[in-house]
Parts: sequence; structure tokens; C-alpha cells
Amino acid sequence: MNDKELVAFEAAKLALNGMVIGLGTGSTANYFIEHLAKRQSDEGLTISTVASSTISAIKAESCGLTVRSIAQLTHIDLYVDGADEITPNLSLLKGRGQDLVMEKLLAKAADQFIVVADKSKLVGRIGEKFMIPIEVIPNAWQMVKHQLNQYGAEGDVRLNASKDNVAISAHGSYILDMHFPESINDEALNAILNSTPGIVEHGLFYSIASQVLIADNGTIEVMRTQKPL
Ligand code: 5RP
Repeated sequence: MNDKELVAFEAAKLALNGMVIGLGTGSTANYFIEHLAKRQSDEGLTISTVASSTISAIKAESCGLTVRSIAQLTHIDLYVDGADEITPNLSLLKGRGQDLVMEKLLAKAADQFIVVADKSKLVGRIGEKFMIPIEVIPNAWQMVKHQLNQYGAEGDVRLNASKDNVAISAHGSYILDMHFPESINDEALNAILNSTPGIVEHGLFYSIASQVLIADNGTIEVMRTQKPL
């Protein structure tokens, strides 16, 4: 097992009978889906799932899991997903796959949000390796970009893979990929992004994760929040 599979295997042990379990998106989340499905078939675990993306729903159904519509649910028991960056205080950067709206909805709706990743995802500060993806109402992208520029942010609207049009997220938003000055900490950045009109959702997951499982060459470290959730 590689490190991503190892943490996913560990997280799948948290599933209990009767749980509604949110499925993340990405390669680590895919391993979680496989190991959850294996527990269902090996142990007769009675669970249902809700997916953060179409691709994860397809994967889950092909593995034999029951996938429910988010529209039927008010909350979920457990959400397991990967991340692109993770800081010591458990702030996360997510959204590489353009599914961050649903990912954050499920993460917030979960009693437990467990993040699974290998050591390469650990950073000192959010934005160290990647730009912050910010989903915006299509008509508002220029205004939002201008507003964020006032805080010293730099970046632009994301283009599609062939670079001949703008990219559209799974939610139908445009995406701004922005870099912010280091002087703006996670808490302040979260407040700025949450209060800027036209922003649908953003890839900074601040104070949402319950636990982070990090695999490093075959061993797992559990990172917990310092403050009560
Ligand atoms: C998608 C995500 C993924 O969880 C993140 O990109 C990590 O992916 P991987 O497990 O493939 O490294 O946030 O929006």
C-alpha cells in the first residue's frame, strides 16, 4: 500500500453501521471509496454515502456503494476527503478538482470531517504551493478580482484545459486563482473571502477539519485541532 492508500484504509475503519458518509474527490478519496466498499462487502456494514462530485459518485456506484442525493440530507455523520495543502492549525487548501462548493458543504455538514493525505501536503501557510481557488458568479468575476486586488491579491480567471475559454466549475461558477500577501493570515483571509459579494465559495477550509491523518513512509500521524470545534 502506498501512503495515500494507507491513510484511506485507516479512515475507512471509522465507518460504523447506519452512518451516512460523505465521499471526497481525488486520488486519496478514491482509495477511501474502495476500502469503504470493501468493508461493506466483507463485514456487511450498513451504510449509505453522498458524493462531493460526479466522478466520485460514479466510482462509488461502481464499487457497490449506495449513493444518496445531497438534496435528501440535512447533515451527515462522517466526511473523508484529501487536501492540496494542510497547515499545523489544520487549515486546508482544497479545490484543485473544481468541486470545492460541494466539498465544503459536506465538510461543514459532517459531525466528523477527516482529512487524509500524505506528508507532501504539509505546508507552513496556506497558499505556499498553490494559488487559492475562488469560485465566483460568472458575471461578477471582474468585480471580485478588483475587490481582491485591493488586498494585494494577484491572479486571474482560470482557463479551460485547451486555454480557449474560461474554466467552469462543477457548480457552474468561474474560478479565480489568486495569490495573497503573506501578511494576511488564514483567519483574516477567510473573513475577506466570506464577506466579498460575488464569491460563491473558496478553497480555504478554515477551522472545519476535525482530524487530519498524515501518512509518511508507512506510518500514520494524527493531527487534531488545538481548540474545541
Ligand atoms: C479536490 C481536492 C482533493 O482532495 C485534493 O486535490 C487532493 O487530491 P489527491 O488526493 O489526488 O492528492 O481538494 O478538490
